Amino acid sequence: MEKLWTGRFKKTLDDAANAFNASISVDSRMYREDVTGSIAHAKMLAACGIIPEADGAAIVAGLEGILADMESGALAPSPEAEDIHSFVEAELTKRIGDAGKRLHTARSRNDQVALDLRLYLRGRIDELSEAAKELISALLDVAEANAEAVMPGYTHLQRGQPITFGQQLCAYAQMLMRDVDRLADCRRRMNVSPLGSCALAGTTYPIDRAMTAELLGFDAPCANSIDGVSDRDFAVELAADCAIIAAHLSRLAEETILWCSREFGFVELDDAYSTGSSIMPQKKNPDVAELVRGKTGRVYGDLATLLTLLKGLPLAYNKDMQEDKEAIFDSVDTVLDCLRLYAPMLRTIKVSRTAMRKAAAEGFINATDCADYLTKKGVPFREAYKLTGQLVAYCIDCGKTLETLTLDEYKGFSPVFEADVFDAIDLDVCVAKRVSFGGTAPDSVKAQIADMRKAIG
Ligand code: ARG
Repeated sequence: MEKLWTGRFKKTLDDAANAFNASISVDSRMYREDVTGSIAHAKMLAACGIIPEADGAAIVAGLEGILADMESGALAPSPEAEDIHSFVEAELTKRIGDAGKRLHTARSRNDQVALDLRLYLRGRIDELSEAAKELISALLDVAEANAEAVMPGYTHLQRGQPITFGQQLCAYAQMLMRDVDRLADCRRRMNVSPLGSCALAGTTYPIDRAMTAELLGFDAPCANSIDGVSDRDFAVELAADCAIIAAHLSRLAEETILWCSREFGFVELDDAYSTGSSIMPQKKNPDVAELVRGKTGRVYGDLATLLTLLKGLPLAYNKDMQEDKEAIFDSVDTVLDCLRLYAPMLRTIKVSRTAMRKAAAEGFINATDCADYLTKKGVPFREAYKLTGQLVAYCIDCGKTLETLTLDEYKGFSPVFEADVFDAIDLDVCVAKRVSFGGTAPDSVKAQIADMRKAIG
């Protein structure tokens, strides 16, 4: 396929250099955006009298035909083409003749690729946001069903205080709520049109940048042509947002893996989301969760790729920037896959409240409540803390728990203890009493669920 830029060259590009230079295998996925962007550009050129009306109409009709054929599969991007922009332009000229050659007036591939990428990623942000909301919704549904399910809450992966499974899942939902918010922020900054920046300096043609910006659903044209073609902040920002989502998912994945180990036994994954071992017949492995945890590495890597790509890059366009697409596409694809798999996996987990309660009953996780009991009866907290510590040590020595000590044993440590201590250390009571705003009490969990449901619509 003949290059767009043959005029000043005496030789064709070396085959290996040609293959090295080409980006069609990566950027052809932006064909829809490339065609849509070109349609807006052609309409503007005609409206501004830069090309004849008839040519404008022929270009638009030709591009619409190309898009329809690419959607139906009748037309596939040629692997021979340098990139998707060259392919569409060449195909247009093949179809409509000379009018096609006018399309690239007052435009460069530099503003074209910046435009295509913004349009494409804008759409992917919407998909990411939907998928994140669906996972939030799955988390909230499971949280609601388990708003009263007592389990140990951990610090240092040591049993700390009684919480509910609902509260733990709501913590993940809150993280994803922030992710959705971050994506919306990223979309807002991304949503300015670079089209009309041309190669780097703008153009002498009387173009109407506001018109193309509006046709393409942008909030405004970007304010500086050099920045318009050089800026890839929007890709970095999206990659960072994806990296944060991946971080959140990897924490959830790690907990899922722990919870479905025999040691915890808190949940069981559905067979549809588990795999077996080729040698150990008893195994049921949480591969999906492990992969979600593992894929976080490449998502972080994509962010590092993009940041490194831009570091020290002089203005304006440099071919280095062609490398941005593989990284950002991979980042978005990977995180979308993870989000989309996690929601149904979560919806189908079996929760063992018995195992959760058993773990909660074994870890002295009501010790804080025992200390608080003494404090509320006038013992200074530091003293109450120490006394309770001694009680726990005593329990460990004689194989008891705070629940199985007798009142006499309690009184041996402090005369302040009365029979109501047993109520104060009851796990359901411990949980139900944590009514501080955002606390773990079932009512608080239900309030969080209602707020988040409202926010995601
Ligand atoms: N394929 C190129 C890219 O992705 C398109 C822009 C080419 N511009 C240029 N001046 N060579 O960056």
